Amino acid sequence: MSNLIDGNQIAGQIHAELAAKIANVKGRRPCVALVRVGEDPASISYVAKKSKVAAEIGIESRLNILPESTSQAELDALLDRLNADDTVDAILVQAPLPKHLDEQATFNRVSPQKDVDGFSFANLGKLCQEDKSAFTACTPAGILELIKRSGVETRGKRAVVIGRSLIVGKPLALLLMQKGVDATVSVCHSRSENLAAVCAEADILISAVGRPNTVTADMVKEGACVIDVGINRIPCAEKKSGYRLVGDVDFEAVAPKCSKITPVPGGVGPMTVAMLMSNTVKSFLSKTPQK
Ligand code: GUN
Repeated sequence: MSNLIDGNQIAGQIHAELAAKIANVKGRRPCVALVRVGEDPASISYVAKKSKVAAEIGIESRLNILPESTSQAELDALLDRLNADDTVDAILVQAPLPKHLDEQATFNRVSPQKDVDGFSFANLGKLCQEDKSAFTACTPAGILELIKRSGVETRGKRAVVIGRSLIVGKPLALLLMQKGVDATVSVCHSRSENLAAVCAEADILISAVGRPNTVTADMVKEGACVIDVGINRIPCAEKKSGYRLVGDVDFEAVAPKCSKITPVPGGVGPMTVAMLMSNTVKSFLSKTPQK
């Protein structure tokens, strides 16, 4: 039996559940506004994917593509318009933003009721309080969903997260330690001493660093569940795109030791999109409860 966690298959199940939830809604469809600033190739591909999946589920997406030269005042003005637009349930500003823009101020500018990324201080605060009305960041929420739907036990287990970003590491640690999930969580980062030894204690090891070969076989306990959040582009002449995708984990060497492992691509990536759709439907239904 394969130990692979199939993110595409689990995301597909979630898409079907969401489509069923909104199939009979009267009036307008749920709507997510997607904001992209500049031409970062990965962001172009992620935003296009989000738009495509939204359409498949029956969610409207509105693309707002701004030039690299956009000022903070112009971006703020767009967000203010989207915040005020009653036909927009959800707003996502694709990160990373160009360097001259203030990412944190931008995330905080999005109305907490439409902040389906969960990056604003309002939603992060609610997550800390274990308030279920919070929007939880999509990648961490997707990882937890993958773990739950794959039957991986979290209660009392040792979870080690590598990476302390706002987008993954910090909210993921909060999710894993919350009541009902009940993992014992360690967060490692670039200044952590004895990284390999800490990782080797993990029942659930999650790498969100963005560097190939961050996790090698010696760092993984026999029978651990390994979740690879990294999506790294490696130049590859044989591919039409000119690159291939690899994760943070040395997959070939690590996979034989694991009870479960996510591939890259096809692991965490599709779940991030699925949870964006789930948060959009949650926002929509909170405003337009259905009979
Ligand atoms: N860039 C990488 N992951 C994410 C995400 O989950 N949301 C946004 N807005 N940008 C990202």
